[in-house]
Amino acid sequence: MIFKRAKRWNLLTQIKLILLGAPGSGKGTQAKFITEKYNIPQISTGDLLRNAVKAQTELGKKAKVFMDEGKLVPDKLVLELLEARLAEPDCEAGFILDGYPRNITQATDLERITEIDLVINIEVDFNLLVERITGRRTCKTCGAIYHIIYSPPKRKALCNNCSGELYQRDDDTEETVKKRLKTYETQTKPLIEYFLKKGKLRTLVSDSTIDMMRLKVESLLKETFY
Ligand code: AP5
Repeated sequence: MIFKRAKRWNLLTQIKLILLGAPGSGKGTQAKFITEKYNIPQISTGDLLRNAVKAQTELGKKAKVFMDEGKLVPDKLVLELLEARLAEPDCEAGFILDGYPRNITQATDLERITEIDLVINIEVDFNLLVERITGRRTCKTCGAIYHIIYSPPKRKALCNNCSGELYQRDDDTEETVKKRLKTYETQTKPLIEYFLKKGKLRTLVSDSTIDMMRLKVESLLKETFY
């Protein structure tokens, strides 16, 4: 059973959450809603790695080779980034992990560092994933996520929030997406069973709009923590 650690709204800020799901399942989109509503930081290992690539750090240069191939970056490199981020003061009150862990080794690494309250597994029909990812556009400035069909910006290629330029991620080509999905199937999907056995996993089927999905996530959080 998932431990109900809070009975009051304001205590939701203490939760430690994992968002699990295939590439394009909507982890980043939902993480941003949770962050805004409950003021818990989103920690996306994908974003941390892309920042390292952009900054051309040694770690970033090594990671890029794997990311371009749709493969997982070696566990040790990702753990280094994650530990540094979790040590920042804003994580003391809780966090949402988006894209970590991605295999059993990462899950056990994480459990050595901290305890997790809830894992939300977002399940999406496999055929929808490629369309979702190849249509994604992201704001260069604030990181807001759009979709050319399902969540288009009001002004073409400009962010609604900050007017930043929207771009398509390097690894969002159809070819790399297929490799990423294969990596998910072989390495990340076993985590569903792993967390299920620990009594921490809840699955939400994402078969509806972004807003409907947000309501499902909110209702799960209320049901679990209040
Ligand atoms: P990462 O950045 O984590 O990418 P990912 O897991 O492949 O996930 P995505 O960001 O592609 O998808 P998402 O689930 O966040 O979907 P989103 O909300 O954007 O990782 C990238 C790479 O970094 C990896 O391949 C790997 O190399 C490396 N990496 C990262 N973490 C690692 C780790 N822990 N270990 C090793 N390597 C690691 O939504 C997608 C689109 O769909 C958007 O356009 C959105 O608007 C739309 N959408 C969302 N929900 C809906 C809905 N309900 N209906 C219609 N459209 C929707």
